[in-house]
Parts: sequence; structure tokens; C-alpha cells
Amino acid sequence: MFLVANWKMNMTRDRIGEYLSVLDQNGLSGILEGSTLEVALAPTHVYLDFVAEEVRRRHLPVKVFAQDVSTRTEGAFTGEVGVRNIQDAGATGSILGHSERRRYFGETDAGVTIKTGLCLNAGAIPVVCFGESLEERNAGATLSVLRQQLTCVADEVAGARKNGNDTPVFLAYEPVWAIGSGINASPDDIRNVLSAVSEGFPWPELPRFLYGGSVNLDNIGLLSGLKELSGFLVGGAWLDPDVFLDSVKALR
Ligand code: PGA
Repeated sequence: MFLVANWKMNMTRDRIGEYLSVLDQNGLSGILEGSTLEVALAPTHVYLDFVAEEVRRRHLPVKVFAQDVSTRTEGAFTGEVGVRNIQDAGATGSILGHSERRRYFGETDAGVTIKTGLCLNAGAIPVVCFGESLEERNAGATLSVLRQQLTCVADEVAGARKNGNDTPVFLAYEPVWAIGSGINASPDDIRNVLSAVSEGFPWPELPRFLYGGSVNLDNIGLLSGLKELSGFLVGGAWLDPDVFLDSVKALR
């Protein structure tokens, strides 16, 4: 299972130091030893370097992920952060197309597709988020929305595979109504949506699905029973290192 803590625009250097100390002192390495669990922390771009460095220094088995990358490779694009930059700062992958980026910053399916391709080319693991809003769900449009979000990404991944690219891709199902709301999608919801999305869908390989949206210590055990899931993308709950550790223990 792959567990990604999406810190969003939270955490400062001090708090990151404390967070990693808690993981270190409470034996994250021992807990993960011999297990198939992999964990990643996703700080804002400015702390990628710092988290990567601290993780290395403490010998923590933790990957570092970015929360987004640019649609451009490099050059005169003021304020942008490219795949090469995040890799240079120690990240091995990136969350892409998070609904908060789609909603507040104009992220489009086309942009997410370009970013996916750039990540794959560079060997950085994309975690591509998709999910429907409450209005779309109530209008019975969930499946068409999700397919629309994933179709061009699927073409991009298929193209990369044809060229021999074998960088893993994760698809994070994050219903917008479940994010930060305290209401998680039920196991039945998730199972139904993922099987319908996969059915007759041109995804070029067995999809690796993550789930995100109000995952916490109370529901992670139940949700982890879903054989369709390869892991979780968690925001609020995993800002607390003790909850993160307890979640890892619960899944171990
Ligand atoms: P949440 O956020 O766990 O706080 O609901 C998940 C996400 O946005 O990735």
C-alpha cells in the first residue's frame, strides 16, 4: 500500500522538524520494516529540500512528493516549479490535478495530462487526482465527469507505455464532497465508482487506485479492506504525526 500525506499549504520548518522527530522517535522505520507499505510526505515546494534532507539524515523510510508541477519544462516561466526542480529538491513524484488546484487555480484536464507526461518522462511518479463535486454527484453525472477527467490522462500513459516507460502511476479517487468535510465515501461508494470507472475504460494497465477524502483513524481500517485500493491520500488527519503513525500501524 502507498500512503501519501498531503500537507497542502500547511506546516512550517519548525513543525516539520517536530513531525519527523515523532516519526523517528516512535519507530516508523521498525514499523515499516518487512512490510509492503510505502509512505510519502508532500510538503509545499519550498520545503521539499528540507524534508528530503531531514528524512535522509534520520534514515527514515519516507518518500518526498510535491503537490504540483508546472506544465513547462524549464525557462522563462516566473513563479513556476518544474519536474526537474522537484526532483532536484529530493522529490520522487508529485500529486497532480488535486481538486483544490482545479477549483481555485484553473487546473484543467489538459494541464493535468501534460503534467502527467512530463512526470513520466522524467521518471517522477504521478498521483493523478480525480473526483466529482456534490452537484455533479447529485445530478447523476459522476461517471461521465470521472471518465472525462481520466480519458486524456489514459492516452498519455498509454503513449508512455508504448515508448517503454514503466514509471508507476497512481490514480487518487477524491470525491470533492468528501475532502475536508468529515464525510468519507463509503466502501460501497468507492467500490461502485472504481469498478464503473474501470469498466470498458481505456486505461493501459491495471489501475493503481488511491482513495482520499476525510480518511481518519476511525475509517481507515474499514476502507483498507477494499481490494480495489492500493493506498490513501490524506490531508487533514495526517497533519498530526501521531495520527499518521497510528494509521500506518493500523494498516501494517
Ligand atoms: P482530507 O484531504 O483528508 O483533509 O479530506 C484529502 C486531500 O485533499 O487530498
